Amino acid sequence: MWRRQVNSTRRLVGNANFPFSSNLHAKSAHSSPLLSLALIVLGVCLLVVFVARGSSIFGGNREAVGSVLGDFSCTLEVERAIPYLKKAYGDSMRKVLHVGPETCSVVSKLLSLDETEAWGVEPYDMEDTDARCKSLVRKGIVRVADIKFPLPYRPNSFSLVIVSDALDYLSPKYLNKTLPDLARVAADGLVIFAGQPGQQRAKVAELSKFGRPAKMRSSSWWIRYFVQTSLDENESALKKFEQAASKRSYQPACQVFHLKPYN
Ligand SMILES: *[C@@H]1O[C@H](CO)[C@@H](O)[C@H](O)[C@H]1NC(C)=O
Ligand SMILES: *[C@@H]1O[C@H](CO)[C@@H](O)[C@H](O)[C@H]1NC(C)=O
Repeated sequence: MWRRQVNSTRRLVGNANFPFSSNLHAKSAHSSPLLSLALIVLGVCLLVVFVARGSSIFGGNREAVGSVLGDFSCTLEVERAIPYLKKAYGDSMRKVLHVGPETCSVVSKLLSLDETEAWGVEPYDMEDTDARCKSLVRKGIVRVADIKFPLPYRPNSFSLVIVSDALDYLSPKYLNKTLPDLARVAADGLVIFAGQPGQQRAKVAELSKFGRPAKMRSSSWWIRYFVQTSLDENESALKKFEQAASKRSYQPACQVFHLKPYN
């Protein structure tokens, strides 16, 4: 057996034109050790990739399981946080704009509240939208708009603006334009849901949709950035939000920032 395999290996090397056919010959007779080795190496590689992906998704964040996108999403977190936002902002929840991927589901949820009107901006292509979402788009409640450009709304159009995920995909150059523009359309407050460093977002196949990979910035990065951009934290809103959340042991899986608008 050893002899044979040594021979077939030598044939493999010698017969440069048809390395595969001689390899297949060897395989059909007895499995070549070269082939077995290759399969083992491939198996180990797949296992490593699987474990690495798994730990970043499940270890990084338990809540990610069952997320709509398959990977982690702060938009989903906005939906969970709505009752606490309502406690923190009360009356300022009467005219809400949500900006972020999957905005249709947030807008629908907001519209189901009493005394809340809601609109949405979807910053990326919408695929596989359901009938409910198509109807929101048709009515002009949800718009698809590139948030690198000024939003199609007048100043102070909304009492509260909530943005999730979208800012994680912008470089500081664009953030410098987009963040002040979000504050411009907000009359009472701007709430930002940003990913935590280490969280995984968007499969490679989806990167063309988002333009660049998400960059999860630390809270100190964001705070420094808000100071640079002259945006202040609304401490009273933050306090009310955290009080309401802790009463129900709710812990947001994303970083949540409560900012005052410019006016
Ligand atoms: C963004 O704006 C800040 C403050 O206005 C400025 O210091 C910084 O250089 C700007 N960054 C980019 C990439 O333009
Ligand atoms: C801070 O948030 C509260 C809601 O908790 C809101 O009523 C108030 O207007 C906000 N303050 C400022 C200065 O934006």
